[in-house]
Amino acid sequence: MDPAQPAAPPRTDPAQEARARMVDALRRDGRVRSDTVAWAMSAVPRHLFLPDATVETAYADSAVVTKVVAGVALSSASQPSMVAIMLEQLDLHPGQRVLEIGAGTGYNAALIARLVGASGAVTTVDIDEDIVVAAAGHLVAAGYPDVVLVTGDGALGHPPGAPYDRVVLTVGSADLRPEWIAQLAPDGRLLLPLRVRGSQLSVAFDLGADGLLRSTSVRSCAFIRLRGAGAGAEPVAALGTDGWSAEPADPGTPVPDPDALRAAVDRPGTEEPLGVRLSAADVWDGLGLWLALGEPRTLRLVARGTAAESPAAAGLVAVAGARATIALPGTGGFVALVQDDAGGPARMRCHGDPGCDAVARLGALVDVWVAAGRPHAADLQLTAFPQGCAATPAAGDCLVELGSATLLVEYLGPVA
Ligand SMILES: C[S@@+](CC[C@H](N)C(=O)[O-])C[C@H]1O[C@@H](n2cnc3c(N)ncnc32)[C@H](O)[C@@H]1O
Repeated sequence: MDPAQPAAPPRTDPAQEARARMVDALRRDGRVRSDTVAWAMSAVPRHLFLPDATVETAYADSAVVTKVVAGVALSSASQPSMVAIMLEQLDLHPGQRVLEIGAGTGYNAALIARLVGASGAVTTVDIDEDIVVAAAGHLVAAGYPDVVLVTGDGALGHPPGAPYDRVVLTVGSADLRPEWIAQLAPDGRLLLPLRVRGSQLSVAFDLGADGLLRSTSVRSCAFIRLRGAGAGAEPVAALGTDGWSAEPADPGTPVPDPDALRAAVDRPGTEEPLGVRLSAADVWDGLGLWLALGEPRTLRLVARGTAAESPAAAGLVAVAGARATIALPGTGGFVALVQDDAGGPARMRCHGDPGCDAVARLGALVDVWVAAGRPHAADLQLTAFPQGCAATPAAGDCLVELGSATLLVEYLGPVA
C-alpha cells in the first residue's frame, strides 16, 4: 500500500448504515431509551421483512403498508418509532415467553426474539394465512427460524403456549379480552393499543395478584384495528358523502342526528376566544382526550378528501392528511375548537345553534385542562377491572366501560 495514499474507506453495507442511522435518530428523539432495545434494533435487518421496499423506505421512520384490500390497509410494518416505544414499554428479559398478536411482516417478532434470547420463546399470530406465510419466510431469511407462527384470530390468544410473561398486540383493540388476561403468567404484562374514548393509547398493564391490571406506562399511538371476533363496531358516522365524519368519544353515546350535524357544519357562526394554541397531538390525546373523558358527548369532527379543502374545514387542525377538531353538541348545533394555520390562539366556533350551555361547558373544560398543565396521554394512570372484579368507584372517578372490563382513568400528578 502506498503510504502517501489515504486508506480506502472500509466497504460498508448500505442497509447496515441505514439501520445505524435509524437507531441513532430513534435514540436522539428519545424513542429508544435502553441499550438493549438499541442493540436489538441495530441487529435485526428490517429490510429483509420488507423485500418489496427500498432500503431507504425500510429504514425511514414511517409505517410501510404491506396489504390493502378495497382501499383499506389491513397490514403494515409499524413505524420504527412506535416499535421502539412499545419495546421499551414491554421491558423484555432473556428467557421470557411472549405472545404477539399481529405478526404482520414478522419484524417485531424478530426483535422480541432477539431480546428474550435462545432461552425465551416467541409465538406470533396473524389472522391472514398469506401474511403468516410471508412472515415465516422473512423470519427464516433474517435468522429467526424459532419464532412460532400461527394463523388464527388473536382475539382468542393462543392457549397452547400459555402462560406468557408478555402478551403484546400490534393491532388496535377497543376491549381487554378475557383470553389475553387468562393467558398471562402471574405478574405478566399486557401491552396493547387500546381505544379509550376515541383515542388510541399504547398501554402497558401489569397483572396484579388481585386480578386487576394497572398501567405502568401510557403512550399515544395509531394502529390498524383488530379484525375478527374482537373487531367491535366502528363508531364513525359519515356526514354526507364528501368526507365529513363525526366520531363520538363514547361508543355508547349515539352520534346526534348526522343530517342536523351536517347542516350545522355548513352554518359557522359566532366565535369566542380561548387563549390556547393546540397541536395536532392536543386534538387527539391532550385536550381531546381530556374533553372526551370529562364529557362523553364530545365528538371528533374530521374532514377528509375534498371536505378538508372546503371553507367549513378552515380552522380545523391539520392531522395526517385530514383536518380535525373537537366538538361539543348542543341543542341545535355544536361548538367546535378552531384556530388559524398561521398561528395564534384557538377559538370556540358555534355551528348552528349549540346553545350557551355547550359553549360555557366547553370553555370551562378547556380552562381546567390548561390549569392542570395541559396533561396528555403519558400522564394517564389506568386501572382495569376485568369481568368478575367489581370496580368500587369514589365520587368523581372517571369510569370507562369496555366490552369485557371497566377502566378507571386518572391523570397522574397535580391535576386541578
Ligand atoms: C400493524 S400490523 C402488525 C405489524 C407487525 N407486528 C410487524 O412487525 O410487521 C397489524 C397486523 O394485525 C393483523 N391482525 C388484524 N386482526 C387480527 C386478529 N384478529 N388476529 C391476529 N392478527 C390480526 C393484521 O393482519 C396485520 O398483519
